[in-house]
Amino acid sequence: MKKLLALVLTLCLALGVSLASAETFKMGIDPEYDPFSYMGNDGDYTGFDVAVCKAACELAGLEWEAVPVDWDFKLQMLDAKDVDCVWSGMTIKQSMIDAGYVLSAPYYESWQVLVVRADSGIETSADLAGKVVAVQLGTSGQDLLEGDLTDLSSTFSALTTLSSFNLCFKELEGNAADAVFVDFPVAEKYVAEHPELKILDEKLGFEEYGICFRKDDTELCKKIEDAVAELVASGKYAEIAAEYPNI
Ligand code: ARG
Repeated sequence: MKKLLALVLTLCLALGVSLASAETFKMGIDPEYDPFSYMGNDGDYTGFDVAVCKAACELAGLEWEAVPVDWDFKLQMLDAKDVDCVWSGMTIKQSMIDAGYVLSAPYYESWQVLVVRADSGIETSADLAGKVVAVQLGTSGQDLLEGDLTDLSSTFSALTTLSSFNLCFKELEGNAADAVFVDFPVAEKYVAEHPELKILDEKLGFEEYGICFRKDDTELCKKIEDAVAELVASGKYAEIAAEYPNI
């Protein structure tokens, strides 16, 4: 009898756990992508995307949790259901649409810039001939440098690809790289806190950010999009944006 009770209890617990996790909307974020998604001083994830997701889930009646992803494996993590969306300053790429992923409407416009040391004497991308440039793995910036911008990148002595932008900036500060190729809002925030760095004027590669869902998740995408639209209409979205300078 005791055994049976223990079994029933174990089953109930297992069921409870799986139900709870099935209902939790797992937002896939890069944990080092300030100002969109990053670890706050209180030990919780924060940032513009995180705050909007949280408010949207509250409206949509969804339990919510932010789950860090390795940016280079974000779509594999989405496929494996480790996360239910990727929402972290993510550029909408045609290749994702072609592969059948469900993309939200664009919510933000951005572009790529080069960040260099302020005292480096580098003024334009042409000055990067023979230099080392760092970029985060799996980003649209990497795609651009290896695709449309190969005329530029072929002049570099090396292109260093690293798993986060913080690592790229560390390479720059440690003189192991001469420039970082990164989305403008991220560059602007980082340089504001690191006056020894500067952003070159050239705007390279305009892009739009969106939220990426699994191939069959049209309904979930609509639920989140509708909630975000409600936040925009109520003025809450603008309020959240105002809390994150550089957005
Ligand atoms: N917007 C670029 C992309 O989607 C860079 C994104 C890097 N974002 C991030 N959360 N690490 O490829």
